[in-house]
Amino acid sequence: MYPMLVHAHSGLRWLVLIFLVLAIANAFSKWRSGAAYDSSDKRKGLLALIFSHLQFVIGLGLYFISPRVNFGDMAAAMGDKATRFFTVEHLSLMILALVLITIGYSKAKRNVNDTGKFKTTFWFYFIGLILILAGIPWPFLGYGTGWF
Ligand code: HEM
Repeated sequence: MYPMLVHAHSGLRWLVLIFLVLAIANAFSKWRSGAAYDSSDKRKGLLALIFSHLQFVIGLGLYFISPRVNFGDMAAAMGDKATRFFTVEHLSLMILALVLITIGYSKAKRNVNDTGKFKTTFWFYFIGLILILAGIPWPFLGYGTGWF
């Protein structure tokens, strides 16, 4: 179960990143060109939201079974770079990113103005993406993680 979840979580990062970049690029170009907001724009924002939330659910499951996490002994966790990263930093950055993406999606939905919808999607998703990129344990950071 654990290896399966790690592989799913690791591979799903790429879908999250791809759908976020697509939604952001779409929102940016249509915001700048003053295009009308239609159902395909809503679908792009929704796909990025769904994949981010799915990643959160798998991550939450991993948080309770991963040997890399030690929330039972925070003092020990803080003393080890890798354990601190997975127990505190990865979790906090990703939750903050997911909250922003979720707020962005619902604010855009409620905005009555088309340009406002694109602008809201762009900024909330863009900041969410930056936080996700900063919070991913990339292989070159030395945490013993992979690319997929
Ligand atoms: C969009 C959000 C997220 C992305 C893109 C992401 C990405 C990743 C990646 C790439 C890894 C390394 C997997 C590997 O190759 O070993 C990882 C590990 C991990 N993530 Fe996330 N993550 C996200 C959200 C979360 C959240 C919200 C939690 C907790 C609630 C979480 C908990 C974990 C844990 C515990 C590990 C360590 C797994 C292990 O190797 O034992 N992640 N994450």
